[in-house]
Amino acid sequence: MLVIGGSASIDLAKELATVLDCPYISASTMRFPDGECYTRIDMEKIDDDAVIVQNTFPDGNLVEMFLLQDAARRLGAKSITLVIPYFGYARQDRVFKPGEPESAKIMCKMLDMNCDRVITVDIHKEVVLDNFTCPHKDLKAAMAIADYFAEKGIDIVLSPDIGAAGRAKEVGDYMGLPYDHLNKTRLSGTDVKIAPATADVKGKNVLIVDDMIATGGTIVAASAALKEAGASAVYVACTHGVFVNNALERFTGSPVESVLSCNTLNNAVSHISVAGLVADALKDAFAGKW
Ligand code: R5P
Repeated sequence: MLVIGGSASIDLAKELATVLDCPYISASTMRFPDGECYTRIDMEKIDDDAVIVQNTFPDGNLVEMFLLQDAARRLGAKSITLVIPYFGYARQDRVFKPGEPESAKIMCKMLDMNCDRVITVDIHKEVVLDNFTCPHKDLKAAMAIADYFAEKGIDIVLSPDIGAAGRAKEVGDYMGLPYDHLNKTRLSGTDVKIAPATADVKGKNVLIVDDMIATGGTIVAASAALKEAGASAVYVACTHGVFVNNALERFTGSPVESVLSCNTLNNAVSHISVAGLVADALKDAFAGKW
């Protein structure tokens, strides 16, 4: 097996190759003056199973993934496994109004053309992966997050909404801690309202877990509600730190003690690694376990 790092996921690809003790192969990617993508896998021939690690967000990275898949196939890769740490378009998983595309489905269909296996991490809706015809697996970052916070004095794990309640349960169970969820109402693309916590958080160190932070509106409102309810400290961990429009800055001066993300996307706080989880899933795949 060899690991090819697309330009969106170089650090994770290198770490994955180290954990797996297999070759890391770089790809030379640049943009033509008109913005189109050029890429080349830096090899003459692939006589091995290829693992391509590349986020499909934003759109330019998705195009690069298509090109890397074709290049790997042409070089003779025995099989192509896509590791997509952050799967773009997973939130657009259905047609909400007539005239809209089924965005997640069409992205899967295009990726499916040149791949034999797909691994994602905490994809927004797991059902999206059923659009692939090849074997696929969504990995849960809960254990990596739980391990990271094991010795940090957390008393309770909460999700900011009911949709992420399962994630709070997983992290809570790994840590041997109680868990609960808050109730969120979205007011706009950037702002949400969080109902007062039902769990007793008075004097407690709370860990909020979510699949992603985009504008930061959810976490700002959730942390304010928890402080209001008497929480002693609020820590935040998400899988995907998208942090649009410098969202990290919104936490300065907020009641949040610290914000961390996994390294599915590179950012200033992506200190929780999912490389071990991905490596284990790959080992299982090549051992025929899935
Ligand atoms: C929503 O379903 C997700 O789990 C996140 O809570 C949401 O995407 C976070 O977005 P934002 O940071 O913009 O509030």
